Amino acid sequence: MTQATGPTDRPLILDSLWYGAHVATMQDGHFSVIEKAAIGVRNGRIVWLDEMSKLPAYEAQQEHDFAGGWVTPGLIDCHTHLVFGGNRAGEFEQRLNGVSYQEIAKQGGGIAASVKATRDASEATLLASAKRRLSSLMQDGVTTVEIKSGYGLSLQSELKMLRVAAQLEDQLPIHVKRTCLAAHAMPPEFDDKDAYVDYLCEEVLPTVASLGLADAVDAFCEGIAFSTEQVSRYFEKAKALGLPVKIHAEQLTSQGGTRMAASFQALSADHIEFIEEADVQAMAEAGTVAVLLPGAFFTLKETQKPPIDWLRLYQVPMAIATDANPGTSPALSLRLMMNMACTLFALTPEEALAGATIHAAQALGMAETHGSLVVGKAADFVCWDVESPGELCYWLGGQLLKQRIQQGKLTS
Ligand code: NIG
Ligand code: FE
Repeated sequence: MTQATGPTDRPLILDSLWYGAHVATMQDGHFSVIEKAAIGVRNGRIVWLDEMSKLPAYEAQQEHDFAGGWVTPGLIDCHTHLVFGGNRAGEFEQRLNGVSYQEIAKQGGGIAASVKATRDASEATLLASAKRRLSSLMQDGVTTVEIKSGYGLSLQSELKMLRVAAQLEDQLPIHVKRTCLAAHAMPPEFDDKDAYVDYLCEEVLPTVASLGLADAVDAFCEGIAFSTEQVSRYFEKAKALGLPVKIHAEQLTSQGGTRMAASFQALSADHIEFIEEADVQAMAEAGTVAVLLPGAFFTLKETQKPPIDWLRLYQVPMAIATDANPGTSPALSLRLMMNMACTLFALTPEEALAGATIHAAQALGMAETHGSLVVGKAADFVCWDVESPGELCYWLGGQLLKQRIQQGKLTS
């Protein structure tokens, strides 16, 4: 399709043109609205974006009229444990009867139960169940997901989980960032935590790095998991292998893990209900993103909330993720997490959408190319059947997605 061009004008050459909706670009973490917008895409990237009325002469192979609604960047779920065997619905009932997460872990349930089920499952079984869960996230607007290992806890089973995460990206229209979380819990065949950390540093991390199976390295720093000293040793190895780090920290108690991770320029510190002001300052200085996980907070009936006012004061970017996992957050909608971040943690809907787009991209080290809609970035966007972008946080569930575009291609 061609629009008339003047004698000397060179038309804008596009693979596709998308119009008929308002756009919340999320540039700089704000809605940054463009009304009645048009988006020009070439080679999977945005090459033109502004009000439709300003569109110059163009030639496009395809044109697409959204016929109303709002377009946002594709949502980015920057913290998930989507690959696992079995499920832990039985523990859900135990917790309803008053048994705590820590008590269940001490009795050999919790993460250890998922480790057994994951080790016992074939790669094909893990792939099939993760695919179902990932499809739910995608149907709710997710175009990039991070997936952690951490239910393998041996070289072969950690590699198995990371390979499954890689296959998900091959088989579905979604970007998958893979994270090695081998320091998640103690495997049954070790009883000395330092000896297990030695094994991770000497065998697991070097192999994962040499196979190129992980984009980052994560650890669970907590009384029931690994100490700051142990995680710091593991992070030193990760850094030496050229892998960025991130951390599960200050979820149940304050251990100093966030500050330690910031000293390694961690991409993110996640959970962080128990962080102190000095931790927030360290994050601000290091450029570490705060990843809020309201699904785990809700499921564990936590009462200590992450200190949102300090995070705002020190301008630490806040991301929001599902933490989708079989124990503490069986959550399959990032939009529901945005609602809960508003309701439980008092984020504004604008902060919540920034948390699931541009700040989530930053938490994955991909803010240069993803997370907001600007010329030059990836053409990953979603059209929603809503009258305002804030509405995305308002509905509890429901099907608001009209269309999902990943790398410039319509995928639903
Ligand atoms: O992010 N905090 C540690 N890890 C997971 C929980 C994993 C599980 O219980 O299976 C989390 O909440
Ligand atoms: Fe987690």
